[in-house]
Amino acid sequence: MWCLELLLPLLLIIKDASAQWNVWVPRDISAMTNSCVVIPCTFMYPPGIRLYRGIHGIWYFGQPYPQLFPPVVFKSRTDVVHESYKGRTKLLGDLTHRNCTLLISNIGTEHSGRYYFRADLGGANMYTYPDFSELKVLEHPTIDVPEEIVSDESLELTCYAPDNCPEMTPEIQWMYTDYLPDPEFTSDYLEESNTAVMSNTLTFTPGPMHNGQLLGCRVYYPNTTLSYEKLISLDVKYPPRSVWVNVSTEVMEGSSVTLHCEVDSNPPPRISWLFGDEEVLWDTASNVSLSLDDLTPAQEGIYTCVGNNGYGAMNTSMYLTIKYPPREPLVNSSLTVQEGSSVFLHCSTQGSPAPTLTWLKDGELIGTITAEELSVLELLEITPQGDGLYRCLAENEHGRASSSLNITVEYAPVLLEESKCTVVREGVQCVCMATGNPEPTIEFYLPDVNITINETDKRYNYYMHTDGHTSTGMIKLREKGERAGNGGPNVHCSITNMYGTESVHLELQQEKKYMMAVIVGTIGGVAVIAFIIAAVRYVGHNNKKENGNPGQNLVSNLENPALFYSAVKKDKHSLRKKVLKTELLGSKFNSILEESTGEEGDYQHVGSLADLERTELNYAALEFIGGRSREVASGRDDDGSDYTEIKAK
Ligand SMILES: *[C@@H]1O[C@H](CO)[C@@H](O)[C@H](O)[C@H]1NC(C)=O
Ligand SMILES: *[C@@H]1O[C@H](CO)[C@@H](O)[C@H](O)[C@H]1NC(C)=O
Ligand SMILES: *[C@@H]1O[C@H](CO)[C@@H](O)[C@H](O)[C@H]1NC(C)=O
Ligand SMILES: *[C@@H]1O[C@H](CO)[C@@H](O)[C@H](O)[C@H]1NC(C)=O
Ligand SMILES: *[C@@H]1O[C@H](CO)[C@@H](O)[C@H](O)[C@H]1NC(C)=O
Ligand SMILES: *[C@@H]1O[C@H](CO)[C@@H](O)[C@H](O)[C@H]1NC(C)=O
Ligand SMILES: *[C@@H]1O[C@H](CO)[C@@H](O)[C@H](O)[C@H]1NC(C)=O
Ligand SMILES: *[C@@H]1O[C@H](CO)[C@@H](O)[C@H](O)[C@H]1NC(C)=O
Ligand SMILES: *[C@@H]1O[C@H](CO)[C@@H](O)[C@H](O)[C@H]1NC(C)=O
Repeated sequence: MWCLELLLPLLLIIKDASAQWNVWVPRDISAMTNSCVVIPCTFMYPPGIRLYRGIHGIWYFGQPYPQLFPPVVFKSRTDVVHESYKGRTKLLGDLTHRNCTLLISNIGTEHSGRYYFRADLGGANMYTYPDFSELKVLEHPTIDVPEEIVSDESLELTCYAPDNCPEMTPEIQWMYTDYLPDPEFTSDYLEESNTAVMSNTLTFTPGPMHNGQLLGCRVYYPNTTLSYEKLISLDVKYPPRSVWVNVSTEVMEGSSVTLHCEVDSNPPPRISWLFGDEEVLWDTASNVSLSLDDLTPAQEGIYTCVGNNGYGAMNTSMYLTIKYPPREPLVNSSLTVQEGSSVFLHCSTQGSPAPTLTWLKDGELIGTITAEELSVLELLEITPQGDGLYRCLAENEHGRASSSLNITVEYAPVLLEESKCTVVREGVQCVCMATGNPEPTIEFYLPDVNITINETDKRYNYYMHTDGHTSTGMIKLREKGERAGNGGPNVHCSITNMYGTESVHLELQQEKKYMMAVIVGTIGGVAVIAFIIAAVRYVGHNNKKENGNPGQNLVSNLENPALFYSAVKKDKHSLRKKVLKTELLGSKFNSILEESTGEEGDYQHVGSLADLERTELNYAALEFIGGRSREVASGRDDDGSDYTEIKAK
């Protein structure tokens, strides 16, 4: 014994140190199913024990206590072992040399568990060592995978197989490595506490495409059919490698849109949608949809999806265009300008796509069509024709809108060619027409008698009418003795507004238009030419009252100072219109007549008609009243016409 202890100096030291009952077995040991395992074992017992019948030993499974009847794995005294160990176990060690090394062959997973050695030194000297060896029977090899696999970083995967069966040595192979980039394999052998492990390490640098890839480790025993496999799926972490968003798109105002973002990363990223710089939505997922409802133009812009999973960030942007019809354009407010000045009109609007801007004047296209945000219409040295309604029209494919303004052009009076004197029954009628803005006032001047006749001068038979920017003045002069052809009266017309005055001599026309009036008058009913009546009304009125005023005296003293008036009464508007159109030589008078048709031509004379007729008085007066006096018409029925001439002084 002593010699033996000398041969085993390590055990000697241990023995010295620990003295009594001791066993040395590997705490953990493993084996592949259907292979074998050798559990190395040495034991010690107190030196004082006397051995009568040699040393025996028992290996138990699961429990150290015989009274609990644990399965007997091996027993040196007899062959009686638990059924599952029959023919499988063999003690390799020599108990007399305190070597209790055990071989278990054809091992199965049911043999996994704790193995206890019990020394039987005879008599009461039986002892089950509390230290046990825990056997793991493996169906698969184990692969050591790092907790985190990151793309583009070198990865080592190690596959382990126990090598505790002396009859068989395992071989380790990696599977499915064909497409790995530059894989390297390193075999290793590791012995630790009397157990051995074979390993093979696979080294390569994975990429994002290797996420989810299967790799396998195969362990087999050459010249046997025993083979074991373990498969793993790689979980390769990688930063976002693509961020997909919708392409830039156009949508209508008020509609809805859903923008998708899909990020390829592992693990799934925090996806955030930014509008400009502002985060509008985020979630941790592989895809996030941003829904926008009831879109307004303010929501047009750059939308960016950012994916960030801690390993890196990536973003992709798209542009959302909000289409909308043009807004009502902004234009200058209505304005009044003087002829010859220049005006710049601005028109601006918004719309998407950018609207075209068009200027229209009174419905007619003017200027050029522009596609700018602002259109400036230049009206240089504006003429009276520039007066009108200017409209700026904004159009795009989604609609149109317009705004307008009025430009009023003010200009000096211009005499119209209708101005002339005409011979009518018993006299000369002078018409003076002019346009101007403000509308001109019209005065007649009779140089021969040095008389100026205007609207306010109530003494004379003067009619004035304005229609828009056109003014019409009319007087009738009764000729005394002289007929047309002798040169006629010398009449000047003077037109005036704030921008100027013009004075012309009115030419006399020879046609005897008055005949027409007579003829027509015989056909129609009763009507009144209102403007004449109106003129008669106040002139006559004034003359009656102001008999002997200086103006009248002047007139009386003149060579031919007579003024007279006539009126035609008719029912038929059309006829009246025709008559007057012919007689008064001016289409402008149509409107005058039409305006007066509201009245049935009721009037009454002022003063005695009979007297008036017989005297040489040159003035007549008629007045509109509410009553239905027909004295004038009925009193002068001799020629069967409604034509009446009234003279008064
Ligand atoms: C115990 O026995 C086994 C098998 O014969 C042998 O391989 C091993 O070396 C022995 N252990 C000691 C410590 O002698
Ligand atoms: C397997 O068997 C062959 C002969 O059949 C032998 O040459 C080879 O060494 C054996 N290999 C092992 C590992 O036992
Ligand atoms: C965005 O893409 C998704 C998926 O392809 C699609 O269903 C959706 O209609 C797209 N949205 C727009 C606004 O194009
Ligand atoms: C979007 O993510 C959800 C889970 O968040 C998933 O169920 C769905 O399949 C994903 N859709 C796409 C197109 O990847
Ligand atoms: C998007 O990525 C670019 C670089 O690819 C970076 O400069 C930019 O700041 C990122 N934008 C956002 C909103 O993260
Ligand atoms: C029209 O408006 C624009 C801008 O508001 C201004 O510059 C321009 O002078 C205006 N034109 C007139 C004639 O007032
Ligand atoms: C322009 O003048 C017409 C007629 O006087 C009027 O009906 C219209 O409202 C005016 N428009 C503007 C924009 O002032
Ligand atoms: C015309 O009459 C005005 C007064 O009404 C007078 O002042 C002027 O001198 C007269 N002219 C002529 C040429 O007689
Ligand atoms: C009409 O003439 C009188 C005297 O000549 C003058 O005082 C008055 O201002 C004139 N009225 C108009 C409207 O021109």
